[in-house]
Formats: sequence, structure tokens, C-alpha cells
Amino acid sequence: MSRVPEDADPGELLRIAREAATAAGRLLASWRRDGRPDVVEVKSSPTDVVTEMDRQSEALITGHIRAVRPGDTVLGEEGGQTTGARPLSADGPAGPARVRWVVDPLDGTVNYLYGLPDWSVSIAAEVDGLVVAGVVEVPRHGETFTAVAGGGAWLHRDGNAMPLHCNTGVSLGQALVATGFGYAAERRQVQGEVVAALLPRVRDIRRGGSAAVELCSVAAGRLDAFYERGLNYWDYAAGGLIAREADALVGGLGGRTESASMTVAAGPGLYQQLETFLASLNPERDGPRSQGQDALAGPERDVSGVIGVPRVRRART
Ligand code: IPD
Ligand code: CA
Ligand code: CA
Repeated sequence: MSRVPEDADPGELLRIAREAATAAGRLLASWRRDGRPDVVEVKSSPTDVVTEMDRQSEALITGHIRAVRPGDTVLGEEGGQTTGARPLSADGPAGPARVRWVVDPLDGTVNYLYGLPDWSVSIAAEVDGLVVAGVVEVPRHGETFTAVAGGGAWLHRDGNAMPLHCNTGVSLGQALVATGFGYAAERRQVQGEVVAALLPRVRDIRRGGSAAVELCSVAAGRLDAFYERGLNYWDYAAGGLIAREADALVGGLGGRTESASMTVAAGPGLYQQLETFLASLNPERDGPRSQGQDALAGPERDVSGVIGVPRVRRART
């Protein structure tokens, strides 16, 4: 195993991630104005919204990371990837940063918009491309999930830290399985068919609305399994490590690693049963685009009228 460089100690990276996630969680939870936060943009579809609070949260997190580790790379959902200022050394310009932060500043934006409690801040730290630390902050539940690679997964609540272990020995027929749905109608059509085929084969289905929270729920034994097609890396980077460190298996179908195509998490045994059943449904596909369906949205798209949200405004260009 390669030595982790001193300036990339996973415990220290986790400490920084927790500080940033706590501050961002407080900011998001402090929303007190009447109604809902302003929707400032829609992305992949008219219901894939960005609120002013997603942006404020990411700015806070990025600012915190930049203040303490100016040379690192940051990949944020809203701001994309930005490289830090690399210091010059006696040997010439420093190479690329070894540490990259992967940030979902608000996972579960639709829950947040509607005042539902399951939303989170998710921050992972990679060293040389591998996730070594992750935090998922869930302010409305007063819970923080953390993990460093090889150090187990932990739930912090009311000043206590509890080790997490996923459920084991659960059969598919007894499993409580969560999933999520993408924002594009043609993807949802297939996702609906897949979940309809799975429903009679399991205890029940849940749709929580924050993939990061659901991965932590697998870690905590609150769910037996989770799967979703179409996640972005920032949705599962931190939660995937937390689930793994709680002894869950996390991957894709057919022995592949988890990816935007498919992410599955469950305890050993159940993972194989779920993966085999899902694979038989050919779920990594999308339906045809229906006529009259809204074109995929760009930042310039007019957001007025988005899910009836009052007081919307156009994204600044
Ligand atoms: C979404 C949530 C949701 C999942 C979607 C994600 P966002 O993230 O994690 O649970 O079903 O696929 O895009 O948009 O709220 O950050
Ligand atoms: Ca997300
Ligand atoms: Ca988000």
C-alpha cells in the first residue's frame, strides 16, 4: 500500500470536511424567510432545480477548503472542477494536486425546497484518485456520518459517536430497498419499470430523496439496500465510503464499480441477490424521448413556473 503523504492524512482531511459540512449545514438550516428559497437555475430537466442556497452552500465549502488547503482541487456540483494555486518549489512548479475534494453542497434539493427533512451536505476527500475520507451532514436529523478508509464508519449525534454496521443475512424477499429516480422523463420511464418489477420481490421500497443519506442509511442498518441509476460522483463519493466502511458492498452491475450508470449498496449476500435481479431487468438504459417533452435545460433556461415555486428569478449570466 502506498504511503499517504503527510499533507494528505485522511484524519486531517476528515476534520476539514466536517468543519466545512457543519458550517454549510448550519447555513442551509438557517433558511427562515417565508416560502421557499429562490430557484435560480434548472439543469437537466425543468424539475432539476438549483436554489440560491445550493450555491451559497458550495461557496462556503469551497471557501473553507481554499482557506486551509489552497493547493487542492475541488470538484463541486455547482461550480465544476477548479484547481488550486500550486506553490513553486526549488525543483520547479509543483505537480498536480494529490488531494481532490468532491462536494455536493445540498443533496436532496427537492426535499429542501419542499421543507422535507431528508437533505444533506456531502463532502469526500480523494488522495491520488481514491476516496479516503467522507462526511454526510444531515442537519434536520442532527446527525453526521463520517468515515476514513480503513477506520470504520461512524454516526455522530448529541456529542456521541456510534460505530456503524450494515445489516447482514437479509434475503431479497425480506429486504427494505431504497432507490431514486433521475430528473429526465425518458430515464424515469425505465426506472419505473425496474422498480415495478422489483416491488413484488422485496419487503418494500423507499424513495428518500437524498442518495447520500440513503447510502448512510444502508451503513446504519436503517435500510437493507439502495440502488440508483444515473447518480453523479458527488452524490455517492462520501456515502459510498461510509457504506463500505460499515461492511456493505458498493458497486455496479456485473462486477463493475459504482458509476453514473448504476450504484448498488447492500450487505454481503443481499448485494449479490439484488445485483443479479437488477441485471436481469437490463436497467442501464433509457426510454425513448416522447414528443413534446421539454428539451434538456441549460443555465439560460427560464425558470419561471418551476414546480409552482413563488418568486423565481433568472440565473445571472
Ligand atoms: C439528487 C438526490 C436524489 C437522487 C437524484 C440526485 P440533488 O441529488 O440525491 O435522491 O434520486 O438522482 O440527483 O439533485 O438533490 O443534489
Ligand atoms: Ca445530489
Ligand atoms: Ca446537489
